[in-house]
Order: sequence, then C-alpha cells, then structure tokens
Amino acid sequence: MKKKLVSIAALALVAGVVTSCGGTSGTPSNEKPLIFYNRQPLKAGTSDVDTSVMNWSDLTFYGGFDAVAGGETQGQMIVDYIKEHAAEMDRNGDGTIGYVLAIGQNSHNDSMARTIGVRTALGTGTTADDTTATGTGSITANDGVTYTIKELATQEMRDAAGPWSQTVAASTMAGWINQYGDQIDLVVSNNDGMAEGMIGQYGGAVIPTFGYDANASTLELILQGGSMKGTISQNHHAQVLTVLEVLRNYFDGATGADLYTKGFTTPDASGNQIKSASVAYDSTTKALLAENGIVTIDNAQSVLNDEADPGIVNTTSDTETRQILWTVYSATDNFLNQSYVPTVQRYLKYYNFEVTWVYGDGTAESSITNNFVNLENYDAYVVNMVETTSGALYQDLLDQAS
Ligand code: BGC
Repeated sequence: MKKKLVSIAALALVAGVVTSCGGTSGTPSNEKPLIFYNRQPLKAGTSDVDTSVMNWSDLTFYGGFDAVAGGETQGQMIVDYIKEHAAEMDRNGDGTIGYVLAIGQNSHNDSMARTIGVRTALGTGTTADDTTATGTGSITANDGVTYTIKELATQEMRDAAGPWSQTVAASTMAGWINQYGDQIDLVVSNNDGMAEGMIGQYGGAVIPTFGYDANASTLELILQGGSMKGTISQNHHAQVLTVLEVLRNYFDGATGADLYTKGFTTPDASGNQIKSASVAYDSTTKALLAENGIVTIDNAQSVLNDEADPGIVNTTSDTETRQILWTVYSATDNFLNQSYVPTVQRYLKYYNFEVTWVYGDGTAESSITNNFVNLENYDAYVVNMVETTSGALYQDLLDQAS
C-alpha cells in the first residue's frame, strides 16, 4: 500500500509546511506531549508495558481502554449466552459446544487479553497462544444440562496488509467449516472486522458469533438478529477524549496530576468533563484506561446512535490553533478507521486542534517513521505504532529533532 499523509484541515496541509504560531514554538520536540494510544508500548515478547518508554518524559502517556477487564467482560458475555442458549447452539447434539477463535495480533496486548479472557471464562486455557489449547471446559446451562466446551481451532489473522485481517479471517473460516462442519457451535473473534469476515462464510447457518469494538457495521448485524450476537464497546469516545483532554490541559498550563484529572474527575479549564464512560488512571504505566461495555441486541441501537459525549459542550477560549501530529498504524484497520478516527474529527473543534494524520501500511514501522518528520512544527504527538515494541524509536526521532 502507498504511504499516505492526510490532513483533515480544510486546506491541504503537508507536514513540511505546517507552522505553529507561538505557545510551544521554541520548545524542543522532546519536551512536548507524546501520547501513545490503541497500541500500548510493550516489552518484546510479553504483555508487560514497557515502563522505560512510558517514563521517557513527564508528558508521555497512554490513552486507551482497560484491555484485561475487556477480555474478561467478553468472556463473561459469551458464558452468559451459552448458559441461556446451549441446547439450541449444539448443532450436532453431541453435548459439546465447539468453538473457533480468531486472534487479531499475537504481539498486541488487547488481542492477548481477549484471548485469555475468553479461554479463562470458558475453561479452555489461560494463555494467549495461537495454538489450540488442549483444555476442555464445561458449562452448566440454565436448563441444568452440563456441556463440554472445546476450542477446535485458532489462528492469528495476518496477511501482507498486517494483522487483524478480515480477509484472512474469512478464508480461514471457510477452511474450518470444511474441516469441522457442525462441530462449530460458536465463533469468537478478537475484533468485529474479523467476525464479520467469518460470518460471510456460514452459508445461511446461524452460528452465534461474538466480536469486539462495537463498530457500526457490526451493530447493524446484531440488530438484524442473525449470527452476530454480541460485541464489546471499548468506549471510543472516552478514549479519544482522553487524548484530547490531556493535550488541552497541557496547552492550558496544567502540570502534574492536573494533566489527567482535569476533564476526567473535575471539569477542565473550559468546563468540559468526560461523561460517556469512566476513565481510570494507572500510575505505574501512565495509562488512562476507559471502561468497556457489553453490547447485545438489547442495547445495540443506542450504541449505534453514536451520540456525542454529553460532558463535552464548551469550546476552548484558547485562540491559538494547536498543531498535532497523529499517526495511525494502518489505513485499513476496521476499528481505527470506522470508529476511532471519525470520533477524533468530531471533537477537534472544541479543542482548537488541527491534526496532520500520518497513516502506516500496517506492517512496516518505516511507513510511519518516514513521515514522522518536521517535528518542530507540531505542538504535540499522538502515536499509534505498527509494532508495540517501537516506542523508543519515536522517542529517538523526537530527541534528534530537539
Ligand atoms: C481493536 C482492533 C484493532 C486494533 C488495532 C484493537 O483495540 O479492538 O479492532 O484492529 O486495536 O491496533
């Protein structure tokens, strides 16, 4: 895919010609805010947050959602569904609920947390490995019958355009249907895009399917009452606002804890305060984490309405437009492009920010870092890495520009 540099400003801005007019001009790039989002900096080969990256400066933060609680919530939603519907789910009547699991990205802690959350709830495993766990669980349904729960197959869904691939999920599902047929009673996916790809292969059968993200297209499927039964909202409004609030606080002169409490637990300088979901601050990882929410046919319509956060109503009195360089690891990621980025765009006017977007190709860090340039022209940096281990690379670039 071609590298893309996109600005949402009415005028077509190119990174090289954006000038910041005051405020932070003259401030070295490594003394301006650096906020990671959606892809938390991790130590290689683990789901442990890389605290050396997070401690790079006082103005380094992560804005995301509670990945571990989200995985547990997804697992609980699926268990609740099985308890209610096991008899009708067991397609071949063998007393076993067989499921397949689509993994998004082995090196992404959102993905790991979901796999672990689901396996733990179903009793089929406790790790995020993309090889089928050997454990079998059991669930006693509400009708008193106990069913064996078995993971039939799992795989990371990755292709040349990167991980979390809907296309690979679809073709893999076709293979699994050939191999396992009506042993498959349940489909679990680390995200909605892959779930949608898989559903396209069922050929009319209804197989309860669960995703994650609450993307609009998935909510519509849930409302249609077919195979798509549930998803988890990672509350993208609150997540987006987390980033915008920390930045706004900084430009309003806040320091220390005020950076991540104003607009969260107390109103910010403009009187705004995030109300759409609660956001917790984890001081060890400097992470601001929005809570998750279960979405089923019962509440899908209200989530689909995608109403703006009722706590963000005032426009900043800061008349200086702040320039933000904002990266997105892939131009084709379902969640980021359907839910996250459009939501950033909805709120910018309240904050008086202008964003220059840098899109990566989903696989090569250089597809972003080659355009992570002219850093002195920006007032802050918001980074979504291709690899969750690349945080220091961005920090080196900011150091070099200082
Ligand atoms: C989302 C996925 C998305 C990924 C990108 C996750 O939090 O749930 O849908 O592909 O972030 O980094």
